[in-house]
Amino acid sequence: LSIVAGVVLAAGKGTRMKSDLPKVLHLVCGVPMAELAGRAMREAGVSKPVLVVGHGSDAVRDALGDSYAYAEQPEQLGTGHALACGLSAIPTTATHVVVAPGDAPLITGEAISKLISAACESGAECALAVCTMANPYGYGRVVRNASGDAVRIVEEPDATDAERAIQEVCTSFYCFRTDALAAHLGSLGTRNAKGEQYLTDMIQAIAEAGGRTVTVSYEDADSLGGVNDRWQLAQAAEKLRSRVLRRLAESGVDIVDPSTTFVDADTVVGERCRILPMTILEGKTEIGNGCEIGPHTRITSARVGDETLIHMSHVNRATIGRDCRIGPFANIRPQTVLADGVRIGNFVEVKNSQIGEDASLSHLTYCGDATVGARANIGAGTITCNFDGFEKHRTDIGSDAFIGSNSTLVAPVKIGDGAMTAAGSTISEDVPANDLAIGRSRQENKEGWAERWRRRKKS
Ligand code: UD1
Ligand code: CA
Repeated sequence: LSIVAGVVLAAGKGTRMKSDLPKVLHLVCGVPMAELAGRAMREAGVSKPVLVVGHGSDAVRDALGDSYAYAEQPEQLGTGHALACGLSAIPTTATHVVVAPGDAPLITGEAISKLISAACESGAECALAVCTMANPYGYGRVVRNASGDAVRIVEEPDATDAERAIQEVCTSFYCFRTDALAAHLGSLGTRNAKGEQYLTDMIQAIAEAGGRTVTVSYEDADSLGGVNDRWQLAQAAEKLRSRVLRRLAESGVDIVDPSTTFVDADTVVGERCRILPMTILEGKTEIGNGCEIGPHTRITSARVGDETLIHMSHVNRATIGRDCRIGPFANIRPQTVLADGVRIGNFVEVKNSQIGEDASLSHLTYCGDATVGARANIGAGTITCNFDGFEKHRTDIGSDAFIGSNSTLVAPVKIGDGAMTAAGSTISEDVPANDLAIGRSRQENKEGWAERWRRRKKS
């Protein structure tokens, strides 16, 4: 019986990223690279992979949470040393250890399963995942003996010209027998260009002790490729994005233009939705069924109910009900909750506000720190004056209230249910239910004044 543990190597700094963020926390379609590697391992049946952390380890632990066990690599002495650190956290009953680099975000559960099966079925000391690459630059090359067995891996800086011409590369995905690791991992040398303990040297150690490495070849080199710099990161994101869009399309979402549609891996989009061009759906956003989103829309970490339309707008950390109509040019900011059937029109900004069912804010409004009751109608140009220069105050608008165009509501202020404000009013005192508030000077008409004035000007 084989018991397979998993280790993700994620302690490196990632110097080539030129970043303060540890490399494995860089996001690919909204998910940290190390999490994508760990997820693939879990999909392959490894229940709690061990993450080897070092550079920025607190940040990595915070970001990845308790789906993982953690092992510290206090100094980054190489991939071999990193795995040695990781072994301290695997169950003693494990017969095999599947290893993944933390910087290969396109890996799939299926690819890892295939590697595990090859190791378990062959009984070999190591199953090594390899690819043939047209441009193998930067990868360790697989050196085979006369009988075709993989006997050594040589890193780019240590390779001879002849070795550099080899196009078969080590992907840093391995499945080792635990006893082989116990026998050789502690004694890897550091006589190489970087002076590090290379995990790749396990292949030679196994061969020299009379053991066996079987290679598992993958056609789709992209899925196992490493990300060492930001351009490779951008290219990985492009590929993962295309997988995400394809999965959505296959589940019944209309993706009008895949090349200008950006959906994060953890975003959920319901059936029968239509996503129009230039649209970005980010983070753990959840879109219900039958929605139309875009064009030119960005939605971040928000929830959107069924059958809602959002056009040319921004929505950030807000909850939107079903059957709402948003935009064009609306800005829905954090902590906003829109009930069902709400209408938010052009040039309307809503922040930290609760808007009741079927309420309407159709044009040119700022609604901040407010409660708006069901069916209330907020006229064009209404402004909640929520900030006095020091503190924020609330505006409370009752249900069925009618706020006249260009009203200025000076918070804190309450407008009762069914109350009205006259257009152009400045409202600084509460308005009881069903009253009309007029907060502007009374109009005076001067009879014939205009005509007299024109006559005077002409003469
Ligand atoms: C490594 C392999 C190379 C392979 C390539 C595939 C070695 C020596 N080389 O090279 O053969 O073709 O991956 O992508 O293994 N890490 C640690 N601790 C360390 C060093 C690294 O945890 O001390 C982690 C890194 O965070 C990274 C992974 O190990 O996630 C791989 O390290 P990296 O420096 O990217 O290795 P490569 O040069 O890409
Ligand atoms: Ca790498």
